[in-house]
Parts: sequence; structure tokens; C-alpha cells
Amino acid sequence: MKLLHIDSSALGGYSVSRQLTADIVAELQRNTPATTIQYHDLAVQPLPHWTPVADASDPAAVLGSQMLEEFLAADVVVIGAPMYNFAISSQLKAWIDRILVAGKTFRYTANGPEGLAGGKRVIVASSRGGFYGKDTAAAAMDFQEPYLRAALAFIGINDIEFVRAEGIAVGDEQKAQALKSARSTIDTLVAKAA
Ligand SMILES: Cc1cc2nc3c(=O)[nH]c(=O)nc-3n(C[C@H](O)[C@H](O)[C@H](O)COP(=O)(O)O)c2cc1C
Repeated sequence: MKLLHIDSSALGGYSVSRQLTADIVAELQRNTPATTIQYHDLAVQPLPHWTPVADASDPAAVLGSQMLEEFLAADVVVIGAPMYNFAISSQLKAWIDRILVAGKTFRYTANGPEGLAGGKRVIVASSRGGFYGKDTAAAAMDFQEPYLRAALAFIGINDIEFVRAEGIAVGDEQKAQALKSARSTIDTLVAKAA
């Protein structure tokens, strides 16, 4: 199994999404020891913003192609996605901009756009300071999870699995509760795949 592990939190050792992606990857690897892991820390090594380049040997284009090829080759993709200002981190957006590529992961047809990257398992570790569940006052301000759902559905990945830790900014007790709940989701996800 080929696993692509992406972290995008700027909070280093304090990051919740990093703890969760590490747990998810460790559990998946325990379940399937013959797993090869490709890791990118997009905060430590940020991708350049996408810009049009005429030359395929441009370093940013080469890096972008590498991101795309690794994504296409992966059976499982584990993405750490913190909520920053109601959306994903700009580090993660720079990665998405390398992954949604016409002719590679989607194409336009007479019947509209068609996703070409289906068949992968995608697990997103989502961490946020507040609460954005569908019955909350802030639900309409969630441009993080719905964005990832929409962007990945566009390329053919319709069943993203979320491991969620919410209310991280509320206090230590809520943070511990959120981590406990997220870890139980991880156990369920991994058991499902076993
Ligand atoms: C720059 C920044 C912006 C944030 N914006 C939001 C926000 O809009 N809504 C929210 O609920 N929490 C927000 N938070 C809190 C984070 O979502 C929370 O700390 C979460 O744990 C971040 O994931 P991480 O720990 O993996 O970085 C923000 C945190 C930072 C550092």
C-alpha cells in the first residue's frame, strides 16, 4: 500500500492535526505493515503559489509535478487540515493547487467536469478552535471541510473520511475530550479497513 501523508499546520509540536495524522498513519501502518509512506510537511517546506510557467523545468513546476505524481500513485492519502480563518491553511491550499490539474485529475467533457482520481482512500484530520457542526450557529462559516469535500469530489473522490477535533480553543478539558473523540474515530476507521 502506498500512503501519502500531508501535514499543513503552522503550529509545529502544538498542532492537533499533526498529532492526529501521526496517529492515523501509525494505525494504518500497524494494520498493513507493507506500507510505503511518502511524507510532506507543507509548513516546514512550503510549496510556492501556483503561477503559470512556460518552462516545465522551472523548479516550482517540477515540485508541482512531483506532488501530483505522488498523489496519483497513492492508495491512501492522509491530510492534516487545520482551520485557519474559517478555511484550510494557505500551505494546504498551495498543495491543492498542484493536485487539481486539468487532464490529470479531472477533465471537462460534453456532460460537464469528470473526476479522474477516484479509487483512493482519503482521510482528513480536521482541527478547529470552535464548533461548526450542522446545528451550530457557526455552521455557515465552515469553509474548511465543505471546501475539501467539494475540491476532492471534483476530482472523483467522493467519500472522504474526517477525523475531527473541535473546540480546541475552548480550554484544556474540551481539547482533551476532542482528542479522545478523534482517537475513537481513528480506531473505527482503521477497524473498518482491517
Ligand atoms: C492563524 C489561525 C487562525 C485560526 N482561525 C480559526 C477559525 O477561523 N476558526 C476556528 O474555530 N479556529 C481557528 N483557529 C484555531 C485552530 O483551528 C485550532 O488551533 C486548531 O487546533 C488548528 O489546528 P492545528 O493545531 O493542527 O494547527 C485558528 C488558529 C490559528 C493559528
